[in-house]
Amino acid sequence: MKVAADAEKLRSEGVDVVDFGAGEPDFPTPDNIKQAAVRALEQNFTKYTPAGGTAELKKAVCERHTQDFGTDYKPNECIITVGGKHIIFGLMQAMINPGDEVVIPVPYWVTYKDVVNYAGGKCVFVDTDEAKGFTFTAETIAPYLTDKTKMVIINSPSNPSGAVLDRVEFEKIFKLTHERGIYLLTDECYCHFLYDSEPFSIASMPGAKETVLVAGSLSKTYAMTGWRIGFGLIPPAVVGAINKLQSHSTSNPTSIAQKAAVEALRGPQESVKEMLAEYRRRREFVVNRLRQIPGVKCAEPRGAFYAYPNVSVVLGKSGINNTLQLAERLLAEANVAVVPGEAFGTEQHVRLSYATSMHELERGIDRIHQFIVKYA
Ligand SMILES: Cc1ncc(COP(=O)(O)O)c(C=O)c1O
Repeated sequence: MKVAADAEKLRSEGVDVVDFGAGEPDFPTPDNIKQAAVRALEQNFTKYTPAGGTAELKKAVCERHTQDFGTDYKPNECIITVGGKHIIFGLMQAMINPGDEVVIPVPYWVTYKDVVNYAGGKCVFVDTDEAKGFTFTAETIAPYLTDKTKMVIINSPSNPSGAVLDRVEFEKIFKLTHERGIYLLTDECYCHFLYDSEPFSIASMPGAKETVLVAGSLSKTYAMTGWRIGFGLIPPAVVGAINKLQSHSTSNPTSIAQKAAVEALRGPQESVKEMLAEYRRRREFVVNRLRQIPGVKCAEPRGAFYAYPNVSVVLGKSGINNTLQLAERLLAEANVAVVPGEAFGTEQHVRLSYATSMHELERGIDRIHQFIVKYA
């Protein structure tokens, strides 16, 4: 967000900035979804709804999840939230007590750390294997589980690395956590954007409903970041707790956006496949081009729409001591916005979002190439 704001400021001053910072689809929201919102307005669906979302949308969320992943959630196990971020926030507020440990693989989406800390919890970070595309296994996680562990957070595909957790390992991690009564939060924000594997939800495992917490979002799947609709598929008691929190803070997610979300979930799903095909094309291009920059290494992202290259070749050179400084210099001198890896818990990487046009990708990576060759 900060990178986007800095880039926007430069742009407003007339600078030609290439922006790889924003983690959002460059596609417009599909037309059928927009039309559903127009109909909602015309039909005056513009008043309060239940704080935890309309019955219609909860049902649509459960049905979509069943269709996509073979789960059997019921509306009383569902809550609609103001974006995927808010279900994660709500879960931490409702479930984490001071001193509880939350296990988080690194690199991680920056919000996890802050919301765990805000709830008084303690983040326990687990290193992953960059050489294997930032993946990890049940064996990697096991030593970090203690009697204080309340939750493990898995985000597959991952923001920022694009890593996808192997299904067998995911199942092993589920067994590991389930038998100890540890909650497994699965952030499915990018679950439909997979390049080499089929969509899968750990919530489809037998018994998963007791300990698996699904955090979902329509933001990326349907190019709806500004509409702010997310959801949780979680035990009814947790729905109740988050519902209370929500009722006294945001009240309901926007009524119009909820109608649009119903259409997104129940309407044609072709746009998701079209976006995935385009992201795949861009991924090939971005990874190949980044690997052509001398000294830069780039793990192959298996999902989502981010590349997370290792740029250590330029660190320690010409006053560039960390990736924050690198991002600042790239923006100021090459007019390219990237997100420094420190935000995601690593020190040698930057994140590039390739949810932008091929033209912008070409221009931007050319600039990064020249910048790194100049200083490395
Ligand atoms: C990993 C991950 N989870 C959840 C979200 C939440 O998205 P939103 O609040 O827009 O639904 C994001 C957004 O960037 C994300 O990257």
